[in-house]
Amino acid sequence: MVKICCLGAGYVGGPTMAVIALKCPDVEVVVVDITAARINAWNSDVLPIYEPGLDDVVKQCRGRNLFFSTDIEKHIAEADIIFVSVNTPTKTRGLGAGKAADLTYWESAARMIADVAKSDKVVVEKSTVPVKTAEAIEKILTHNSKGINFQILSNPEFLAEGTAIKDLFNPDRVLIGGRETPEGQAAVQKLKAVYAQWVPEDKILTTNLWSAELSKLAANAFLAQRISSVNAISALCEATGANVSEVAYAVGTDSRIGPKFLNASVGFGGSCFQKDILNLVYICECNGLPEVANYWKQVIKINDYQKSRFVNRVVASMFNTVSNKKIAVLGFAFKKDTGDTRETPAIDVCKGLLGDKAKISIYDPQVTEDQIQRDLAMNKFDWDHPLHLQPTSPTAVKQVTVTWDAYEATKDAHGICILTEWDEFKNLDYAKIYNGMQKPAFLFDGRNVVDPEKMREIGFIVYSIGKPL
Ligand code: NAD
Ligand code: UGA
Repeated sequence: MVKICCLGAGYVGGPTMAVIALKCPDVEVVVVDITAARINAWNSDVLPIYEPGLDDVVKQCRGRNLFFSTDIEKHIAEADIIFVSVNTPTKTRGLGAGKAADLTYWESAARMIADVAKSDKVVVEKSTVPVKTAEAIEKILTHNSKGINFQILSNPEFLAEGTAIKDLFNPDRVLIGGRETPEGQAAVQKLKAVYAQWVPEDKILTTNLWSAELSKLAANAFLAQRISSVNAISALCEATGANVSEVAYAVGTDSRIGPKFLNASVGFGGSCFQKDILNLVYICECNGLPEVANYWKQVIKINDYQKSRFVNRVVASMFNTVSNKKIAVLGFAFKKDTGDTRETPAIDVCKGLLGDKAKISIYDPQVTEDQIQRDLAMNKFDWDHPLHLQPTSPTAVKQVTVTWDAYEATKDAHGICILTEWDEFKNLDYAKIYNGMQKPAFLFDGRNVVDPEKMREIGFIVYSIGKPL
């Protein structure tokens, strides 16, 4: 029986390993983590992350060939293949702070593997890392190896949150990069054999190590660039009377461009797009390519512009002040169908409104008050260090209340900001909401969830991203 150990029981490690266990009943999969609370949650009825379909997969294989444990050393020692899926946040201090990837967690994982291993291992980079990381990891492993043979593979993950299980069941591709030596290629085949149990062979791409590492950063940069492109056009739509949904549809029907990922929004969020582009920018700078670095930097600049443009629109529309006005925020997660708030645009929008002294009432179907308060009290980039997983009691931001009900959040509010595209926001009783609000009642739709004309008929003053005012 092939034994797999995965270091890191997070948004990637948990779902990916659960699907491998489900699809490969002859493989034993153990997911380990330094955070005991996370492992306990994986072993309980309430999993640590919300992901449609995940509960079902975990229920089918937990205790059969899927295990969650804090005994990291034991499971590293026993494994044939070790996935490393730890966090690779943006550095907050020192060389490259604010841009470079912080590989502290990765390095300590590699050192642990080198210390504990007693037999040959295939070590798989699952985390997103800077190109050439495998070279550094190889050095750490081989200089401490006591004669053990380590093969490093790059196998970046392309799942998106909210659709992780669907993406893992039916990936566009699986990418495996390895050394171009006989041992390297044997390791590639070993990992390929795992995925081939459910992924068609023509969708399993094999490349050299550096191509695999760089493809992941490039894919995220291209995806984020599409959003910044459509968001840039949304500003021009508002200025000219064009409608961004019509423009995106017309542009996307060109088969060379394609229709997906062209939804204008208040800005992209999530744990990876910004982090990975900053990482790409830093690598370009280190390789003497400032023009290339500046090109990708623009994707983030437009994203920041889009968020501040939204805040400015809210404040300017409400007679240039939101001081002491109640603003209801519908949606706090960075996208629908997840409880993840890492780098959610809602944080920047709420901070912007708080800066103008608004009182904010927030409703999100999956995000707790504790999480929201922590996010609003935290410094940029701090969220991606495992400290954020420890239960802490943040000092509550006083101007913020959190409810579990959209109608309560909007009661007596002067304005509403829709910041996540949860399906349930399409079907709220907006006439009832309007009746309970202060007048004039404003509605700012940062996700183009509602039909602005219908809302205007009810009586709202409406602003929708990229739509005629
Ligand atoms: P996460 O924070 O949810 O999980 C990482 C886990 O690793 C944490 O639970 C942490 O406690 C654990 N950890 C840290 N050091 C460890 C060690 N030495 N040994 C064992 N466990 C350790 O992060 P995530 O969202 O799963 O992302 C992990 C990586 O995958 C990142 O590099 C990210 O860029 C990449 N990625 C994420 C996504 C996504 O949708 N979240 C998608 C593709 C790729
Ligand atoms: C993204 C990529 O889609 C995954 O392929 C990748 O594996 C992952 O990052 C990663 O490396 O972490 P994710 O961040 O989970 O996945 O979610 P996306 O669906 O890509 O959405 C990212 C952000 O862009 C969200 O805030 C979303 O609302 C926003 N978005 C997305 C738009 O504003 N418009 C769109 O058309 C699409």
